[in-house]
Amino acid sequence: MEQIHSTDTYRAIAQELAANFAPRAAEWDKSRTYCWQNVAELAEAGIMGMTIPKEYGGKGASYHDAVVVIEEIAKSCTLSARIVVEANMGGISAVMAYGTEAQKRFAAPLVLAGDKPAICITEPEAGSAATEMTTTARRTGDVYVLNGRKHWITGGGVSRLHLIFARVLDEDGEDQGIGGYIVHCDPDNGVEPEGFRVAGREHTLGLCGMPEAELVFEDLVVEDDMVLLPPSGFRRGFADLMNAYNSQRVGAGTIAMGVAAGALEHAKRYLKERHQFGRPLAEFQGLQWMLADMDAGVHASRLMLHEAARSRGPDGSIFPDIMMAARAKAFASETAIKVVNDALQMFGARGYGDKEPLERMYRDVRMFTIGGGTAQILKTQVAGQLLGIKTPQTRDGYAKLAARAGE
Ligand code: FAD
Ligand code: COA
Repeated sequence: MEQIHSTDTYRAIAQELAANFAPRAAEWDKSRTYCWQNVAELAEAGIMGMTIPKEYGGKGASYHDAVVVIEEIAKSCTLSARIVVEANMGGISAVMAYGTEAQKRFAAPLVLAGDKPAICITEPEAGSAATEMTTTARRTGDVYVLNGRKHWITGGGVSRLHLIFARVLDEDGEDQGIGGYIVHCDPDNGVEPEGFRVAGREHTLGLCGMPEAELVFEDLVVEDDMVLLPPSGFRRGFADLMNAYNSQRVGAGTIAMGVAAGALEHAKRYLKERHQFGRPLAEFQGLQWMLADMDAGVHASRLMLHEAARSRGPDGSIFPDIMMAARAKAFASETAIKVVNDALQMFGARGYGDKEPLERMYRDVRMFTIGGGTAQILKTQVAGQLLGIKTPQTRDGYAKLAARAGE
């Protein structure tokens, strides 16, 4: 039987992969193409779906081992690191935790073979206010029929497995809460289910090889066996699904930290290589202090992310704690943008051009205070947890809470 690797073995595997990925990263970025070659190598090395339990073909690796791998990969190729996150800590975690036996047996092999599942939450009119989503899944006979539109869906057009969040309506149109719907595409063969359409791709600042797509659902039929029923039912479905999503937030924060750690390594090299005023840049105290601050930021981010990866949510949930995940992702993403910016500064004009990877890293890292819950939204969640209060953001939110308390 296959042994679970030690953390050090995972790190070594990731470092080897990252060394192969480094020279290719600029090419995916420039050509705006998905890194299929890297995906094949990640699958071959057992990194795709490493957190999937052994009985379903994965390695049963912990989230902590996954973040160790993600950091190493992110140092050289942000695009590949995003794929590793989604293959271990995104929609697949929700399916493996909440899914039926048949759903798990269906999803696991797809990911192990190289699929990056897509998680479909955001809509044009429901970004941070995700609970205001208007995509509906209406009970019609013994199936659900989905209608609506999602945008900024990472992997739309290349992903096979899609986990679509939708507002569940009963046969009479009554709101039942929010559920997850598993939809399978086969983009290699140009097959999309009837009623499912990739309507467009965004032109992005960074992570250019990753499609960010708009998806449209027009009477998309989902059979009962592909409904991911959250453990507390549809009424609490959003909370359960977001609980699983906390793992993705830890993974995303780790990519940002990994990019920053990579930029720090480049900066250390260059400060010794480059001479001005007859001395290596490394001897200038102004840059030494910048470097020390960069190191502290990366180190603090790593500690928070590892703590979050090892944590558990309420009632022994296997997912990271909501507050630790939010705190770590907000901190790591804001810190990484600053660290990469400072590293680029140390390279002077060379950092601004494409002979070094800094300009790509600078563009890649920018998204992490936006995608997966903005830094502002995450801090609001942290504050709510710190204060032990609900923090409604709608204009009448506090009035509604007060009215409910008085009932
Ligand atoms: P808005 O919600 O319109 O916010 C605009 C600004 O206002 C932000 O700065 C925000 O922080 C601030 N703001 C909003 N509300 C508040 C508040 N109450 N208090 C303080 N500030 C506030 N979504 C998916 O479902 N699946 C994906 O795979 C996915 N991938 C993505 C990949 C990328 C590269 C990006 C950029 C986005 C992705 N998203 C994805 C969408 C992402 O989750 C949303 O962009 C995010 O939730 C914010 O929504 P919004 O862009 O509509 O911004
Ligand atoms: N983990 C666990 N539970 C969560 C959660 C998380 N990350 N986010 C929300 N919940 C729970 C809340 O605790 C709440 O449960 P309660 O009713 O027992 O208090 C329930 O879900 C609804 O959350 P609430 O904060 O009341 O919702 P809201 O209508 O005020 O909307 C959010 C705010 C949750 C949508 C907003 O904070 C958010 O996370 N937006 C970002 C969306 C996002 O990350 N998109 C990424 C797409 S890839």
